[in-house]
Amino acid sequence: MLRIDAVPTDLTRALAPELALWLATIDPWRRLGIGPEPLANAIGARPLRLAREPDGSGEGTVAGLISWVPDAPMGAYLSVVATHPDHRGRGIGTALMDAVEAEAFVHRRFVLLSVSSFNTHAHAFYLRRGFVEIGHLPDQIQDGSDEILLRKRRP
Ligand SMILES: CC(C)(COP(=O)(O)OP(=O)(O)OC[C@H]1O[C@@H](n2cnc3c(N)ncnc32)[C@H](O)[C@@H]1OP(=O)(O)O)[C@@H](O)C(=O)NCCC(=O)NCCS
Repeated sequence: MLRIDAVPTDLTRALAPELALWLATIDPWRRLGIGPEPLANAIGARPLRLAREPDGSGEGTVAGLISWVPDAPMGAYLSVVATHPDHRGRGIGTALMDAVEAEAFVHRRFVLLSVSSFNTHAHAFYLRRGFVEIGHLPDQIQDGSDEILLRKRRP
């Protein structure tokens, strides 16, 4: 069965470089030119939830992750949300979002994130989950694409 684990801080730091290696090879990070080093630094410094699928070992295969900032000034901020390409479309992104939103909304009124304008699939995924567009940040990470700021209010 799929497991969603909150990862202890020291393990998060240790796992970050390996996780950043596959993140850097997939969009939106590949297209935005965000390489393994900044991704590892960001993931290593923040609370992490990992989705693990059973693989016969006790640990399970890492199938997805959310790296987030629970105490950002405007609300909880989700900085990296991803399912490994081999594991998409099986409910992992939904399970990760459900777990992090449930934890965030205990203390925070809002969950925020940004999505690149070319990332239409993730954008639609968030809108279906009740996120609302707050604004567009033109050329924010890369000329020619916007970062779209999305926000969800505590249900
Ligand atoms: C966005 C993302 C995290 C979704 O993860 P996932 O594990 O595939 O999500 P789920 O299996 O829970 O599916 C979520 C929804 O997307 C739909 N979906 C899944 N794969 C799809 C695909 N290849 N094409 C179209 N729709 C798809 C599902 O039907 C589901 O729809 P529903 O909410 O109406 O039920 C994943 O696509 C991903 O990692 N994308 C690349 C990284 C990224 O863009 N991250 C977000 C940065 S802001």
